[in-house]
Amino acid sequence: MADPVSSRFLKVLNGTPSSPIPIWMMRQAGRHLPEYLELRGQAKDFLDFCYSPSMAAEATLQPIRRYDMDAAILFADLLLILDAMGLDVRFEKGVGPIVENVDKEADLNRAPVEMAVQRLSPVYETVERVRGDLADDKALIGFCGAPWTVALYAIEGRGGTDKSSARSWAYSRQDLLKALLDRLVEISAHYLAAQAKAGADALTIFESWAEGLPSDLFQTLVVEPNAALINRVRELGVTVPIIGFPRGAATMIGSYAQQVAVNGIGLDTAISPAHAIKAVPDTIAVQGHLDPVLLIEGGTAMETRVRELLSAYDGRPHIFNLGHGVRPETPIPHVERVVEIVRERA
Ligand code: CP3
Repeated sequence: MADPVSSRFLKVLNGTPSSPIPIWMMRQAGRHLPEYLELRGQAKDFLDFCYSPSMAAEATLQPIRRYDMDAAILFADLLLILDAMGLDVRFEKGVGPIVENVDKEADLNRAPVEMAVQRLSPVYETVERVRGDLADDKALIGFCGAPWTVALYAIEGRGGTDKSSARSWAYSRQDLLKALLDRLVEISAHYLAAQAKAGADALTIFESWAEGLPSDLFQTLVVEPNAALINRVRELGVTVPIIGFPRGAATMIGSYAQQVAVNGIGLDTAISPAHAIKAVPDTIAVQGHLDPVLLIEGGTAMETRVRELLSAYDGRPHIFNLGHGVRPETPIPHVERVVEIVRERA
């Protein structure tokens, strides 16, 4: 486990502001790093890479070595859980993930919960390996996808759609959608608990597709399943802090923060600090939210924005991050410069 005193990241998640402010970046591992691309070339395919504890552990550690981030995020993918449930998941070059569509109740029950959780064992081994190699002041973040975001891939077969098919299930196939979300809550809870047991110091729930939902569906598809997942994780005895990332929650961010028992909340690119400060209780750490496109641009505009974000959350528990993941074309010196500015401000 990381040391809760020397880890700035854990200190902030426990509600105490830190100086300097801890920093990590979503998708800090991966395609913008030449050392990742080299390693990735050794794997048969992306799933094979994720299920190889030695390669996944190495990819997790690469951004810590290069940038000295305060937290490492487990290298895996939120779609592994669908693979473990027995659905066909593929990652196509240039296309992204393609998932076999769920169409009936039997599709949800191809693997019993214990079997699905067991199939993800290589991930727990990755966690153990990384924790064994990390310094005490560096935290390791485990993660899963939130039920709605994962369900969306299982219903639509891919991400980046307008989500209308999945949303239409909320009106016309409510029972099947509810069964899918409940199933994902149960498997994800055990998956997160196993990551915590293996040594994850904190957990993140990625709700990458919260955007565009009417408020009643935001409540039933995002808030309730996220809250149920955290309750279940706690019932399983997990005590480590949890960060929620309801990307695209917009004006409903406050509703999420008040009803989902998170210790930290990931803010996306579109939320203004003024809104976040009002909407999120100050007992919850805020994490955000430099535009990943500005990170590609770099220069004075980027530096000014980094400083603005640091000042905006002055006095509050704050973890510096991006509003979404690092993009493949991001220049390494820009990431280095952001880390430098964040550290200088101590
Ligand atoms: O540094 C890290 O963030 C750790 C690893 C990580 C990956 N995926 C590796 C990955 C994490 C935390 C994820 C989560 C994930 N996966 C999310 C939630 C976060 C977010 O970005 O909103 C989502 C929506 C996915 C699903 C997914 N996986 C998509 C849409 C894609 C294709 C698009 C893309 O960005 O490549 C992936 C593939 C993927 N996951 C890659 C990596 C490094 C690229 C695959 C490769 O290297 O060939």
